[in-house]
Amino acid sequence: MPESLPANWYVNEDIYSRERERIFAKNWWLLGPEHDLALPGAYLCDVICGWSVFVLRGEDGQLRGFHNVCRHRASELLREGAGCVREVRCPYHGWLYDLTGVLVKTPNFGDDSVLMDSQHNLFPVRVDTWHGLVFICIDHEASDLRSWLGSADKLCQPFPSLAALDYRGEFIVEGQANWKTYCDNTVEGYHLPLVHPRLAKSLAKGAVEIKSYDDGRAVAFHVNYGSGSDGASLRGQEGLWLYLFPGFQLVAGATTFKAERVEPIGPHALRSRNWAWYRDLSKEDRQDAFNWARRIVEEDLGICERVQRNLESGMFTSGPLSPAQEIHVIRLQELVRTALEGDNS
Ligand code: FES
Ligand SMILES: [Fe+2]
Repeated sequence: MPESLPANWYVNEDIYSRERERIFAKNWWLLGPEHDLALPGAYLCDVICGWSVFVLRGEDGQLRGFHNVCRHRASELLREGAGCVREVRCPYHGWLYDLTGVLVKTPNFGDDSVLMDSQHNLFPVRVDTWHGLVFICIDHEASDLRSWLGSADKLCQPFPSLAALDYRGEFIVEGQANWKTYCDNTVEGYHLPLVHPRLAKSLAKGAVEIKSYDDGRAVAFHVNYGSGSDGASLRGQEGLWLYLFPGFQLVAGATTFKAERVEPIGPHALRSRNWAWYRDLSKEDRQDAFNWARRIVEEDLGICERVQRNLESGMFTSGPLSPAQEIHVIRLQELVRTALEGDNS
């Protein structure tokens, strides 16, 4: 009988540091919707897995990603969120960078000729877009976004693109759980009836098919909502819930699209950040669909916090995983184990 990863993998600082280096740095992270970056100078800035980063639209229309780190004495340059700038000015001593990340001024520094040699430009971060979403990757050697997305593009083909949907807004749910506690939960349907009663009631009987793609890095729930159910009326009859290792999820349907970044904030906590789009729904139904989406994340994080407290307590080491229900949890945990135990230091 397969056993779950040892509990200390969900609490230990050293494990978390290794995950940060071997998993988080080497995969792509959703930064936010591209519609926030329409104009030259528009930026999106956030802290992801401890890296403060921003993506900026240049005068030439190009998107560029940077670490939000001044090359003088490391101050953050921009505040988290979306905004628009003509240049990037450090709030500490006023060093100035242009929209391509080049250092252009060091007010009152003294002789700064040696600084203007491109050795002090902003550190770049990889950036690319897919489906109206902006993604970043810390590691410059890791696979490109298309390869990382793997089957996602094809799996989303039957559903409308973001251009055909209206943006509704974003919500954030934070919880005291390790990212794996939450992602283990994401890739199994075993918990649906007890944790998500409204969602479970919405699904047609036997109409959830869970399949993995791309060597287990992607897990898709192909669902069919029962006719006349909340799911069918708010999301459309057929639906897709897709998880991509380690921290990206989406929910797609004829009338809905939701993208989620599952973002670790240390070994004991995570932030789920969600962006939602709809079409062909009344104002009331959009509100209901949006609130419901948030409720589902809260239900998941709620149960994960109850798991995490026991993983932290030392009372529990590991438990059996069901080959019938938790095959994708087994695979997810293998991916983590391989990344951490392999010699790809
Ligand atoms: S830290 Fe940025 S100008 Fe000094
Ligand atoms: Fe769930």
